[in-house]
Amino acid sequence: MKKIRCLVTAGPTREYFDPVRFISNPSTGKMGWAIAKAAKDKGWEPTLILGPSPLPDIEGARTLRVESAQDMFEACKKFFDECDILIMSAAVSDVRPKKKLAQKAKKDEINLSPELERTPDILLELSKIKNGRILIGFAAETQNVLEYAKEKLEQKNLDGIVANAVGGIDTGFASDTNKIDLILRSGEVVDFRKGTKNEVAKLLINFLSARFFDQ
Ligand code: CTP
Repeated sequence: MKKIRCLVTAGPTREYFDPVRFISNPSTGKMGWAIAKAAKDKGWEPTLILGPSPLPDIEGARTLRVESAQDMFEACKKFFDECDILIMSAAVSDVRPKKKLAQKAKKDEINLSPELERTPDILLELSKIKNGRILIGFAAETQNVLEYAKEKLEQKNLDGIVANAVGGIDTGFASDTNKIDLILRSGEVVDFRKGTKNEVAKLLINFLSARFFDQ
C-alpha cells in the first residue's frame, strides 16, 4: 500500500508589533496535533507545521515550528509539493502589523492606531497550485457554521471543509473535546460524534483515508 503523505497545520500564528507584543488567537494546536498523530498511527507520513504551542513533537512525524502566518506559508510551500493531502487546521491570523519594531516600544511610545495589513491566505494560495492534491480546510465559526463553511469550501476550491463551532466551552479553541462536521464538495455532510480531540481526529483520518485513498 502506498504511504499517504500528509501536511497538517495547527495552532495559532503570532504577528508581532515588537519583540513582546503580538496579534494572535486562542488556538492551542490540539486539534491539528491530534490529526497529525492520528495520521501517523494510521501509517501515513505526516508533516506537522505547528504555530506557537506547548505541545511536544510527535514521535515518528516531522514537526516544524513556526511563528507568523508568513513563516507558516513558507513552510507549507516547502512541503506542499511532496504531499498527497493538506489538512489546514491552523487558526492563521488574518492580519498583521505593517511595521514590526526591532526593540520593545516604551508604553508612552506605543502607536495606538497601528496600521495593519492582511496576511497571505495560505489555503487560498495553495489551492491555486493544487494539482490533484486533496485539500481539507477548517472553518472556525461562532455562528452560521455550516453556511459559512460551505462558502469557504467554494472560495478556496477545497475537497472538504471541517465545520467547527468555536466559542463554546467543550468545542473549539483550547478545549480537550470537539464536535465537527465534514462538508464535502458534493454537499454531503458527515457528522462526527463529539469526543476528545484524539477520538475525533481518528474518525476524521479514517474517513479521509477510505474516501480519498481507498485505504
Ligand atoms: N486560512 C489560511 N490563511 C489565512 C486564513 C485562513 O490558510 N490567512 C485557512 C485556515 O487554516 C482554514 C481556512 O483558511 O483552513 C478558513 O479559515 P477561517 O479563519 O475559518 O476563515 P477565513 O478564510 O480567515 O475567513 P473569515 O475570517 O472571514 O471567516
